[in-house]
Amino acid sequence: MKQFKIFLFIFFITTQVSFSQVRVVRELDSNWKFQKGDLENAFQSNFKDSKWESVTVPHDWAIYGPFDKEIDKQSVAIVQNGEKTASEKTGRTGSLPHIGTAWYRNKFTISASEKGKKVILLFEGAMSEPQIYLNGKKVGEWAYGYSYFYFDITDFISAGENTLAVKLTNKEFASRWYPGAGLYRKVSLIIKNKESIDQWGTSITTPFISKEVAKVNVKTKATGENGYLVTTIFDANGQKLSSDKATTKFGNEFDQNIKVKNPKLWSPETPYLYKAVSQWFVGDELKDEVTSRFGIRDIKYEANKGFSLNGEVRKFKGVCLHHDLGPLGTAINVAALRRQLTILKDMGCNAIRSSHNMPSLEQLELCDEMGFMFLAESFDEWAKPKVKNGYNRFFEAYAEKDLVNLIHATRNHPSIVMWSSGNEVPDQWGEAGVKRAKWLQEIFHREDPTRPVTVGMDQVKATMESGFGALLDVPGLNYRVHLYEEAFKKFPQGFILGSETASTVSSRGIYKFPVVKEKNKQYPDFQSSSYDLEACSWSNVPDEDFVLQDDKPWVIGEFVWTGFDYLGEPTPYDEKWPSRSSYFGINDLAGLPKDRFYLYRSRWNTEKETLHILPHWNWEGREGQVTPVFVYTNYDSAELFVNGKSMGIQKKNNATPQNRYRLMWMDVKYEPGTLKVVAFDKDGKAVAEEEIHTAGKAYKIVLDADRKTIQADGKDLSYVTVSVVDEKGIPCPTATNQLQFKVKGKGVYRAACNGDATSLEQFHLPTMKLFSGKLVVLVQSLKEAGNIELTVSGKGLKTGTLNISSTK
Ligand code: GAL
Repeated sequence: MKQFKIFLFIFFITTQVSFSQVRVVRELDSNWKFQKGDLENAFQSNFKDSKWESVTVPHDWAIYGPFDKEIDKQSVAIVQNGEKTASEKTGRTGSLPHIGTAWYRNKFTISASEKGKKVILLFEGAMSEPQIYLNGKKVGEWAYGYSYFYFDITDFISAGENTLAVKLTNKEFASRWYPGAGLYRKVSLIIKNKESIDQWGTSITTPFISKEVAKVNVKTKATGENGYLVTTIFDANGQKLSSDKATTKFGNEFDQNIKVKNPKLWSPETPYLYKAVSQWFVGDELKDEVTSRFGIRDIKYEANKGFSLNGEVRKFKGVCLHHDLGPLGTAINVAALRRQLTILKDMGCNAIRSSHNMPSLEQLELCDEMGFMFLAESFDEWAKPKVKNGYNRFFEAYAEKDLVNLIHATRNHPSIVMWSSGNEVPDQWGEAGVKRAKWLQEIFHREDPTRPVTVGMDQVKATMESGFGALLDVPGLNYRVHLYEEAFKKFPQGFILGSETASTVSSRGIYKFPVVKEKNKQYPDFQSSSYDLEACSWSNVPDEDFVLQDDKPWVIGEFVWTGFDYLGEPTPYDEKWPSRSSYFGINDLAGLPKDRFYLYRSRWNTEKETLHILPHWNWEGREGQVTPVFVYTNYDSAELFVNGKSMGIQKKNNATPQNRYRLMWMDVKYEPGTLKVVAFDKDGKAVAEEEIHTAGKAYKIVLDADRKTIQADGKDLSYVTVSVVDEKGIPCPTATNQLQFKVKGKGVYRAACNGDATSLEQFHLPTMKLFSGKLVVLVQSLKEAGNIELTVSGKGLKTGTLNISSTK
């Protein structure tokens, strides 16, 4: 019996190998040529592109800068921000050169045996308005830069060399943030048999789950007759669990129900993933094989109960994310995405909203694996414009196609628990908008009956009157904390989602005095204070959302604007050059935590202790002046000491939302030395302490890598945090030294970022100033394994050196 099992296992492994050859997926990542400009004949096969720049894809042509005020200068009233009169705005889309036309060309070969097969050309995002040519002939076009789309290029392909040419055009006034430019997500060829499983043709749901058994429903669209489909389910260790053979197609679709015993449920805490392998036989010949990863989990949204996952009521502790990756621009990079999610996980975050467009497939895969729930959004505009050349130009012709592709490409990700058809769309006003909301929601329901649909609404009063809010599966409120109660009463759903919250502004390591709660506050240095008390006219500070989240069981969670700073939208400095990136992030553009990180962590991460003191304690010139001290902690009370003198015990209380979630000593007078905080548990026992010290003169550069071993794949990144310390090793929190970077060995210098929203230093040049004592250097692997050495130097400072190993 044992022998038999082993035999079966070996048989399975070997058949797997030969099976997978029925379908080849070839990523077109190398061999690309790139040129900016509206070139007339660049689509033709024999066009001479040898002088063009050689690039790899994913690629963002605009991120290399330089920043230029003129690029997105515009006189406009940002209506969504409540502005009534136009004024000059700069930096709105990051002031990076993304506007204009550019071409990409790639020569690839198809073998004689592959000619005659079915060939699909798949784009996971092309910014924007792509026109695709193969061997001099137009294959097709798309419009929205965030969509996934594909073409069947079987009739265009030749055996031997093929020339792919892609023209992209970015118009001005087409975005409210930095959209990036180019083939910024993957491009691939899928070569398969004519009789095969359709692109995105597999849909997996888990309609019944008990402790003992789960019903896994697999719907598969396949081309070809007189065949049968075998779908086999494997657990996370690759063990075969169960299998089903289906012979009846309904239309072009197979419908299978497969049993999984004692299912392990997917959740943020236990992101367990199964695999379904579907094999399509015609006659008895294997024609295609598709592997789909999925999770077994149950989601419910119920009146007065809220959201539950696997039967357990829980709230979204979420953040909104734009798609750029700071110094990398929009070019997708798995290491960069993973680092973002690692930081968010430590904060206790359990959900992501892809604002305001389709997420990358890589991000969804990571969320499945690392355990984040996902709100997948589609549009920032419908038919009515927010910006002149925005999605309104494409809505009628493309909205349905764009949604269908979003749903088909991503529906098997267990992380996705909700769709969003729009964000603050001006269509919230008027009857036509109500119809559009219904139409879009019905497309989602038709293509995926398992997940609800929301819209992030800012015109809450209007949507209460018009019926817009009532028809949504999930009413999402953007800000408007004062309207939650009323919306809950008026809307029929019985719960409210904080689809977008906070929009607090701050600059890492910058503190302003006096410490007061303010809206739209501006300072001469174009920074915002990290006491976390500043927001916009429409938005609020974090604690005001916390009150609703904690006190109202019918609030199902929040998605904070935003997890990380992003390029563009430099509110409250929309009119102030050189501000060119956001101040909204909980983490800055370099991914370094601002103080707010610890405020969210103290509440969201219930496993780990948080005890964080702010501000820093280097205030030369403020001696004797009032310098309030805040502590963000999961503990209820703490005592503060300045150079050993007690400043008294503070306890969280209900006097104001701030008092409820922060410990604040408002009267502390600055004197250099040591700030120490001792935290107490519920019984008043001292359980933890933390200290910060006044630093002396900057003396030495210190390097700290997020990962010291990376993959030798030419893509992986180590993020090295660079800081300076004084002779005693105390971090210098105000240092602004200009530093230089050198990388030797089997890696390259990729970029640096200091998180300063007003910095015009280009990310890819190997020099940058520290901002509030820190910056981050990105070191990229080569395809060869070996040691990588990073050296960081600066005038008058002891040089820092770090070794990273790159392995196969
Ligand atoms: C919201 C909007 C976001 C961003 C944010 C800034 O209204 O949905 O995209 O603009 O404001 O506070």
